[in-house]
Amino acid sequence: MPEKIQQQLVSELAEDVARRYTIETDDAAALIDETLNASPVFQQMLQQAAAQEAPVKQIKRNKTYKKWAKEAKSRIYHQLRRYRTDDKIFHETINLLQNSNAGDALEPILTEVLHSHRSTSERMSSLRETLDTYASLLDDCRNENQEKLRILDVGCGIFPLLFPYAERPLPGIYHAADRDKLAIALLQAYGASAACDGSFQASEWELGERPVPFSQEYDVALLLKVVPVVRRLSPDLLSELAELPARKLVVTGCKYSMVRRTSIESRERRVVQEFAAEFGFTVVAPFETADEVGFLLER
Ligand SMILES: C[S@@+](CC[C@H](N)C(=O)[O-])C[C@H]1O[C@@H](n2cnc3c(N)ncnc32)[C@H](O)[C@@H]1O
Repeated sequence: MPEKIQQQLVSELAEDVARRYTIETDDAAALIDETLNASPVFQQMLQQAAAQEAPVKQIKRNKTYKKWAKEAKSRIYHQLRRYRTDDKIFHETINLLQNSNAGDALEPILTEVLHSHRSTSERMSSLRETLDTYASLLDDCRNENQEKLRILDVGCGIFPLLFPYAERPLPGIYHAADRDKLAIALLQAYGASAACDGSFQASEWELGERPVPFSQEYDVALLLKVVPVVRRLSPDLLSELAELPARKLVVTGCKYSMVRRTSIESRERRVVQEFAAEFGFTVVAPFETADEVGFLLER
């Protein structure tokens, strides 16, 4: 009965993983099962253990089990660190947006695609409140001499899509940039679709390689959940974020870790505050949403 032993090993490991990582037990079990099935060495060890009627406790002390448990956990860890969990749904949404008859099919697929990006999925359960908070912040960035607010969203992911999804107009002229090709392809498909009124543009762009690809001044730059990422991966490039062509910046960090079930709120708040202090910004207003801590900053 190696299958029965594997089932018990998988379910115990999945419960342990789900207690510590941001994944449901069933999803963890499916990934662990796949990893173990793909290992002939593990399967051989299991056959032997079953033949010897070794208790599960003893199998868990076996080197082969420990090696594959570690590999399964590492696979889950890396999966949880990805922003996009399902490329297929991105391609399907792009195809649908390019089809002028998308109609009622658009809403369910937008729901799926927004859930499949970690940064937007974290906002879905409190979307209305989150967008209200942003609407009021952006209102404070309005320039009286301009008819429309000019917004630059840097490291945008697919955040701009939350507005049409929630049936709200984009809050002004909205330009978005990110290095994630597929996210930008999706935003460009939205920008070119009948669903968009033409005030939106998206462009692929890697921080540090060239200036932001839109040549104008903005009332506000959005750096949502981006400064802590850049601080961790390429701190030398923070100065480029500070020099974006905008009078005001909305800068946020995450309240919760992408991977572990832990709060990272104070660390992320500190990183954003240090960014403001290092580059001489004035903090106009601190704010928070269900999943973010942030500050409205002014030059
Ligand atoms: C945590 S996500 C936030 C996405 C979006 N701002 C939101 O709040 O939904 C961070 C984003 O920054 C982008 N990013 C990270 N480093 C970047 C870089 N060096 N150049 C351009 N984009 C970058 C990633 O591709 C990702 O989309």
